[in-house]
Amino acid sequence: MPEVAITAELPGRAIEWLEEESLIRLNTGVQITDEAKLIDFIGSADAVLTLLANPVTDRVLAACPGLQVVGNCAVGFDNIDLEAARRRGVWVTNTPDVLTEATADLTWGLILAVTRRLGEAERLLRDGRFRGWALDMLLGSGIQGRQLGVVGYGRIGREVARRAEGFGMSVAYSATSELLDPDPPATFMPLEELLSTSHVVSLHTPMSRQNHHLLDEARLRLMPVGSFLINTARGPLVDEAALVRVLEDGHLGGAGLDVFEDEPVVHPGLLERENVVLLPHIGSATEETRAAMAELAAKNILAVLAGEEPPTPIVRPADH
Ligand code: GLV
Repeated sequence: MPEVAITAELPGRAIEWLEEESLIRLNTGVQITDEAKLIDFIGSADAVLTLLANPVTDRVLAACPGLQVVGNCAVGFDNIDLEAARRRGVWVTNTPDVLTEATADLTWGLILAVTRRLGEAERLLRDGRFRGWALDMLLGSGIQGRQLGVVGYGRIGREVARRAEGFGMSVAYSATSELLDPDPPATFMPLEELLSTSHVVSLHTPMSRQNHHLLDEARLRLMPVGSFLINTARGPLVDEAALVRVLEDGHLGGAGLDVFEDEPVVHPGLLERENVVLLPHIGSATEETRAAMAELAAKNILAVLAGEEPPTPIVRPADH
């Protein structure tokens, strides 16, 4: 039987399915965030089911030559060296689609929380500072009739855009190229134009070497005074230190962040600010979605081990 290393406990039926077809090794301890520990854990396994904190580097792939497939239990795959996997003939798979709705919903949770100051309002109440209704208490920013700028018009970006209609926002998107028939309809804009005209900017583009600090200080300062930044994609898309400066001097109205440059560390300048809503990377965190992600990761691995095409490949060995 093939051997499958699983780097964390999984919800749903994923483990049961893997156990029927393989010998599984399950990490029940702390998350493996270190290359050497990951190498030790994978050992001679034929497959590894990973989480986004597991660094599947060239070194790891080189030290684990038995690996046929890395099944990442996430839609993002910036924790995996794709080029090295391609070169070494290892399949890489991810878990798209099943988390699109949950992540789009959470994005809207952040848009509303930041523009309506929900975190700050709850802190006020819990601190015993609610003295009764007041006309001028905790006034937020209306979003109706304003522009939502969606950076990256893939599955999640489009689902975020779909929800904008219900809130009366118009949508502009930026992407590597203009789409012929965007669904839902939205106005294509170069990134700079989108940044300088949107009331809320939301990031939905995959992390890669090319878009590290896609939003640097100069680009953040293109955003209108009092506008808002939402990031449910990946932390390193934004220069976090620059974001703190742009918030500190009052240029931005606020930020809603589910992801950070150096998770689980959060920049102290963000922790201090009332107009920032901070979440611990829970974009896809619903019972249903997490079970579906784990099950899709398991299906991908089982398909490769059975000599079949996996449902959601990122890298095929034949691509080399
Ligand atoms: C979560 O961040 C994911 O990539 O699935």
